[in-house]
Amino acid sequence: MEKKRILSGMRPTGPLHLGNLHGALANWVNMQDEYDCFFFIADWHALTSDYEAPGAISGYVKEMMIDWLSVGLSPEKSTLFVQSHMKEHAELYLILSMITPVPWLERNPTYKEQIIQLANKDLSTFGFLGYPVLQAADIIIYKAHGVPVGVDQVPHIEITREIARRFNHLYGNLFPEPKAILTETPKILGIDRRKMSKSYNNAIYMSDNPDKISETVARMVTDPQRARKSDPGNPDVCNVYEFHKLYSEDKTVKDVNARCRAAKIGCVECKQIMAGNLAKFLEPIREKRAYYESRPDLVNDIINTGDEKAGKVVQQTMEEVRTAIKM
Ligand code: TRP
Ligand code: SF4
Repeated sequence: MEKKRILSGMRPTGPLHLGNLHGALANWVNMQDEYDCFFFIADWHALTSDYEAPGAISGYVKEMMIDWLSVGLSPEKSTLFVQSHMKEHAELYLILSMITPVPWLERNPTYKEQIIQLANKDLSTFGFLGYPVLQAADIIIYKAHGVPVGVDQVPHIEITREIARRFNHLYGNLFPEPKAILTETPKILGIDRRKMSKSYNNAIYMSDNPDKISETVARMVTDPQRARKSDPGNPDVCNVYEFHKLYSEDKTVKDVNARCRAAKIGCVECKQIMAGNLAKFLEPIREKRAYYESRPDLVNDIINTGDEKAGKVVQQTMEEVRTAIKM
């Protein structure tokens, strides 16, 4: 049986952290055998909010591909490519913009929220309003059936379905209506217990070395009720303990839990143990990262190969689209 096609993208706005790894990338890696996977770096989408300083984006694109390869996304199994190299996305975006009612975009909850959250940027642009239309083009141009994303992206997939339906209604049935694929992911918070994010300065990065990890972990918020080592702690409300569950062996997790409740371990020691295990977990990723970092030509080749594979699909789809709209 032919594998179902899925597609997802990520905006290159900086190095990837543990939140990105557990929230998205680990899932993508696991889907590679079961699905025909297309994963791309959404650099045009990064431009919608970072248009004043586009210089950093191209560097982040390379870094992101290296991060992807380091965690096990494989150019043999999946099609890995860069959005702005596929000019056809822009052509389809233009055509979809003709049939997308503006109110669909204005009532998009993600749009309203981002305008408030990113108040330091002027996002009252046409491109930012049209963000979901470009995303719809990204998705349907591959006739993808599923889109693995986080819950925050569900409104965008909903708009994509509506746009696909409208296109099919107006010009003939060409596009499947894609579904969001939501997978349970471990909840991972930043060191201050807010959502892990580059802009909050609370992230641990996949590329961090053991010293950096220790430093950052040392700043983690623990059980806020626990002032001294002689006070019993509550692991259930402690973020460090959540990290233990992800990176330490079961035995250690149990041991930490019991000793914390009995005031037999201090937070400093507890953090050192966790930081060590986290560093061990990231070690193979860092090794692969070093491998690709020292081989920029190989990374470029991988991008070119992905671009070529994706290019064949988008050219074919655009032929069909042009026929459908009689242009
Ligand atoms: N908007 C997505 C995000 O911020 C990135 C993205 C762009 C995307 N195009 C896409 C995700 C197409 C899935 C499919 O995370
Ligand atoms: Fe958290 Fe560990 Fe401190 Fe307990 S000992 S409060 S689990 S950091």
